Amino acid sequence: MTAIAILGAQWGDEGKGKLTHVITRDADFCVRFNGGTNAGHRVVFSKVPVPAGVEDEEDSGMPPQPQEFKFNLVPSGALHEHCAGVLGNGMVIDPYALVEEIRALQELKHAEPELYISQTAHLLLPYHPLVEKLEGAKSELDTTAKGIGPAYRDKAARIGIRTSDLLFPEVFREKVKRNLERLQKIWPGQSDLEKINSQQLADDVLKLSSAFSDRITDTVKLLHKALREKKTVVFEGAQACLLDLDFGTYPYVTSSTATIGGVGSGAGVPPQWIERVIGITKAYTTRVGHGPFVTEEKSELGEELLYRGHEFGTITGRKRRCGWLDLVALRYASMLNGFTELALVKLDVLTGLKEIPIATAYRHPSKEVIHNFPSVLEILNQCEPIYERLPGWNEDISQCKEFAQLPPQARDYVRFIENHLEIPIRVISVGPADEANIWR
Ligand code: IMP
Repeated sequence: MTAIAILGAQWGDEGKGKLTHVITRDADFCVRFNGGTNAGHRVVFSKVPVPAGVEDEEDSGMPPQPQEFKFNLVPSGALHEHCAGVLGNGMVIDPYALVEEIRALQELKHAEPELYISQTAHLLLPYHPLVEKLEGAKSELDTTAKGIGPAYRDKAARIGIRTSDLLFPEVFREKVKRNLERLQKIWPGQSDLEKINSQQLADDVLKLSSAFSDRITDTVKLLHKALREKKTVVFEGAQACLLDLDFGTYPYVTSSTATIGGVGSGAGVPPQWIERVIGITKAYTTRVGHGPFVTEEKSELGEELLYRGHEFGTITGRKRRCGWLDLVALRYASMLNGFTELALVKLDVLTGLKEIPIATAYRHPSKEVIHNFPSVLEILNQCEPIYERLPGWNEDISQCKEFAQLPPQARDYVRFIENHLEIPIRVISVGPADEANIWR
């Protein structure tokens, strides 16, 4: 069996979709195990081959143009013909968004995507974003406003509604009624909540779920069988280590497990079965939303990184905060996840910089030098980066296919990271297209 996990090593947006898309070319299953529509995995690819027997209306004889697809709930590997997508139990699934995404994917592939949805995954329903808005999480934490926190809270409070409830309409109706009445009591006089009629909502969701209810199944059994049969299964993390509910920069985190433990709790597969744990990091750092960011570059140079790297949120279009690579945070991510290798992406964005700062430690006002990432916000907020400054390069690296083709300064930058973290960097991305990678 081959089980591979691809996990964000920073604050998300590292390009997990692109790497997953490339790695799942030979995979049988691609699995999401956490999060919901807060994730936006953008994949740029050459034209999807039209299946045999389907007329290719767009075949003009011209070379294929790059296309893109934004995944929110469906695992990125599902773009390939032979890779089935699995939505694991650790996810919170917005049924409206799922139907829309399946439809868009079907249109693109000219075929039904093969999908399996965990019967114990929780549903994110229209009242969840409303509650999130009422609670002010959007302004306080700068969340994606998709209702993720309230949906996971229902799960933890043991009043959540699971996909399997859709298979028992009366049970589903009763649970929607109970949860909505409860919320209307907590938030009296809130017209948006009061406008929702539980019967109508339940009927609406039951109706639209007919588009996917036959895919609701025991995905734990499915994955164990696949792994026993030596199939290749790729677990695609959403969000990232520093947004993990337990290990991230709490409370500026998401509400699910974005680290390796999420594969166990969110897909039912023992983490020790994972042979390759690929940590994915940009060659610099970005974060969206509020919260600590020690290596944030607040000068014009940060703004330059923003535009060079097109650092705008896939889901919300928000500007991402930009800064330098933080080896203290990466060491922490590596320790928590047990990375067996790293993928370093967007190295091309650094081209043209005279020198590149890279944080190897933090300094605390107590004058203490800190090498371990502080989990306590009050300490982290006071830390300043201690930078080493490596020389930059000017050559265009976007066409490089081999490590030896990179300018010596770029190679030194990569080796510096490897040496500090003691983890091999197996893939370096030098452009957005799925083939713009250097494999080592
Ligand atoms: P939530 O997941 O919508 O509750 O947002 C909590 C925090 O996680 C906010 O700072 C979001 O910006 C951040 N976040 C959630 N999903 C992503 C993602 O896919 N990429 C980057 N940041 C994310």
